[in-house]
Formats: sequence, C-alpha cells, structure tokens
Amino acid sequence: ARAHLDPTSIEYTSDKQRNAVAALVQEFTVTPQLLKDIKDNFIGGMQKGLKKDGETLAMIPSYVMGRLDGTEVGSYLALDVGGTNLRVVSVHLTGGGHINTRQTKYRIDESLKVGDAKALFDFMAVCVDSFLDEHEIVVRGDSQIELGFTFSFPVLQTSINRGTLISWTKGFNAHGLVGKDPVAFLQDAFNRRHVHVRVAALVNDTVGTLLAYAYNHPETVMGVILGTGCNGAYIEKIPKIEKWKGGAIVDEMIINMEFGAFDKERTILPLTMFDNKLDRKSVNPNKQILEKMIAGMYLGEITRNILLNLIDRRLLFEGNVSADLNQMWTFETAYMSTIEADNTPTLHVTRKILESTLSFSSTTLNDRQIVKTVVELVGKRAARLSAAAMAGILEHTGAWKQKAAIGIDGSLFEFYPSFDTDIMDGLEEVFGSEVRQNVSLGLAQDGSGVGAALCALLAAKHASKDAS
Ligand code: GLC
Repeated sequence: ARAHLDPTSIEYTSDKQRNAVAALVQEFTVTPQLLKDIKDNFIGGMQKGLKKDGETLAMIPSYVMGRLDGTEVGSYLALDVGGTNLRVVSVHLTGGGHINTRQTKYRIDESLKVGDAKALFDFMAVCVDSFLDEHEIVVRGDSQIELGFTFSFPVLQTSINRGTLISWTKGFNAHGLVGKDPVAFLQDAFNRRHVHVRVAALVNDTVGTLLAYAYNHPETVMGVILGTGCNGAYIEKIPKIEKWKGGAIVDEMIINMEFGAFDKERTILPLTMFDNKLDRKSVNPNKQILEKMIAGMYLGEITRNILLNLIDRRLLFEGNVSADLNQMWTFETAYMSTIEADNTPTLHVTRKILESTLSFSSTTLNDRQIVKTVVELVGKRAARLSAAAMAGILEHTGAWKQKAAIGIDGSLFEFYPSFDTDIMDGLEEVFGSEVRQNVSLGLAQDGSGVGAALCALLAAKHASKDAS
C-alpha cells in the first residue's frame, strides 16, 4: 500500500520550514525528463564499457555461457560473501525444476571487513568447515565438493573460476586483495585447513540472481540487486561485447555491469550536499556514486544528513538532536521502510522509532511529518534512479518490446514499500504503458546462493564439453 504524505498538506510551523521542505522536494525529485537523460547517459556508459576495460561501467564478461532448463541434477555448495552476512548454502538440484537448499548465515565482524584479507578468507573457510560439520556432509577419500563462490565485488574475471579484484565496495576494505584473485585466496584457505572443497565457479550476486531466476522463468533478461549495494547483470550478444577476446560456445554471455559505479565523472546524477557529505566520509570516496544514492547501506545515512541540517537550522525538533542521531550510520534504512509504511493519523510508528529507538525525548506531529517526508524523498529518488538504470538496459537490448522478466534480490526491493511501483512508474515514463504488459519485476529470493551452485554446474557442463 502506498502511504505517501503530501508535503503541501503539512501544517508548517513557519514559512522558513515550509520553504526548506519545498527546496528539498525540488532537489530530490527525479523528473521524467531527468530520468530519461540519465537513462541515455547510462546507455552511453554501457557502450563504452563493452568496448574496453577500465571504463566507468566495468561491463565484466562473467564467462557464464549457456542456459539451464531445470532438468539438471546434482549437489553443490555455495558461499555468498558481499552483504551484511556471509551465507553458506547447500544446493540440491533434483531435476524437474526443483531446488532444495539448506543454509546458515554468519555475521562478518566489522574488523574483518577492514583487516587483513587473509584473515577474512580464513574466516570464510572456517564457516564452510563448520557448515559441513553441522549438516554432517562427509567427503570421502580424495574427493572434493564443488563450490560456487558468490563474491559480490567488482572482479575482472579471466575464467569461470579466476579473476582479479578491481576494488572493494560497500564498506569492505580488507588489505592485500586488490589486484589479486579471490578464488586463489579462498582455495588456499581451504587447503591449509584440509577442507575438501574445490572452488569451481566465481560469480557476482547479480549474475547468480539472473541464473537462479531464469531457472524457473525462461524469459529472464536481467538480474538486479537492490540491497546493501546495487548492481545489475544482463544477457548480451557476444558480437556486441567488442572487448571480448575469448571464444564462444554459444552466442550470448551474462555481463556483470557494476552499475553502482555509474557517473564517476559526476556529469548527470543530481547529487546534493547531503550525498557529498556521505561520500566524503565513506571508506571509498569518489567511488560508487550511483550506489551511494540507491543502496540500503546508504539511504539511512543520507536521510540522517538531511535531518541534521534541518535541526541545525532549528526547523526540526526545535533544534535539538538526540545523542543517537548524532552518530554516523544510526539511522538505518530499515527504519525508512517502517516509516514509509506508517499510515497512522498521528504517525505513531514513526514516533516509536524516533523516541524509543533514536532516543528523542519528545516529538510533535509536525516533526514526524517532516521526517516522513524526508524519508519518502530519499526512498523515491532511489527507486527512480534504479528505474533509469533498468530502463537503460531494457532499451539497449530491446528487451522491453517482448515478454521479459527481471529477477531482483535484496532487502530494499523485498521490504521497502512502493519501491517496485515506483520503478514500474519510471519504466512507463520511458517506454509507455505497454511496458507493463511486457516487463515484470519479481523477487528472486536467495538468488545469489542458488545461482552460484547453478554456475558451478554450468562450469562442469562446459568442462565436459571441452574434454569431449
Ligand atoms: C556492489 C558490488 C557489486 C555487487 C553489488 C550488489 O555494487 O560492487 O559487485 O553486485 O554491490 O551486492
């Protein structure tokens, strides 16, 4: 349900307050024209990235070729690293399109994210080892279990299970890995601990999501992550990938776009002072500009920056801030989902977050309405910028003209109210109303784990083809 508050219906405490909100509305609104301009610019970026390496949109060939049809059988492990949690998944394909999974989540400590890369990979090996114990998965003799490794960072792949890390994103900054192969680090960590697992495939979460969604929706053209980070992968015709020097057993390949990096040049995105403040204080300043306007890791912090500004101008909470709100990252994006969904006349759900969670001693209805308005502006801008990127891919491939499915995973898409309707509205502005009949957005839950296993399976298929 949509519960957007109309900013013109708020009873403002002063003209100054009214004008401040109006200015924010102006700054954060992505007009239909701007959405189209961003989409065009985005397509230009895609074309550049397909020509050569090192462009803003990395457009990384995934080495995933061929499709699956649901008849495949086998058991694989998947390790999913790149969000808040690390997940180990055992994936059992029974044929007939059925997939059974069992998974365990492990929290990655902040200190591991920014420590020594070797320690981070040792932790991954320990998690896989204890997962095998816990699920009584025994490996006999010299045999090894095949694992699909979803490592959701910009990795320039050199084969289905080789690559080099271009840079860290999403708050990770473990030293010693940039320019190196994450698979070699992981395999080494397994070998040192005598864990009988072989890393058979290296996948980005967007690629995994595309594969997993396609397993049950053959018309899938794109996999998107709207979670801690944001990014997309799509199916490209090999002749259009000018930089591709490898051979091809089929005529198409999945491309990991790394679109969170879009507009590094800052020529088109409507960046505000609140975005710049966040960027400067991040572990990767000047990088992942689009991601910082869309992804769950950042939306709460942008909102916090705006609220602090209004407080400092004495236009909110009578100029008083709470100790909690003064701390970076305390305004979680999850609160935004809750505040957006708050339909109550007194906004008492919003009140609970502000007063119980963020320790404001008291709030007025006016305060809460302003907070809700700010949240909605930041959330809607994120959804419309995602729409611009997705429209770019749909236009570039022409996929919007036919039945096309987009598999999306991530907490933002799953829990943020009206994110999907806002995206669809944006697509309609670009393509007209027929896009609603053709294009569907669906939740591809746990796509990255299942997708990694499917990728390991594809790798095995190719290997046996090459050998024959
Ligand atoms: C970041 C990573 C990218 C990943 C995305 C979603 O943008 O660089 O590889 O797909 O987050 O997790």
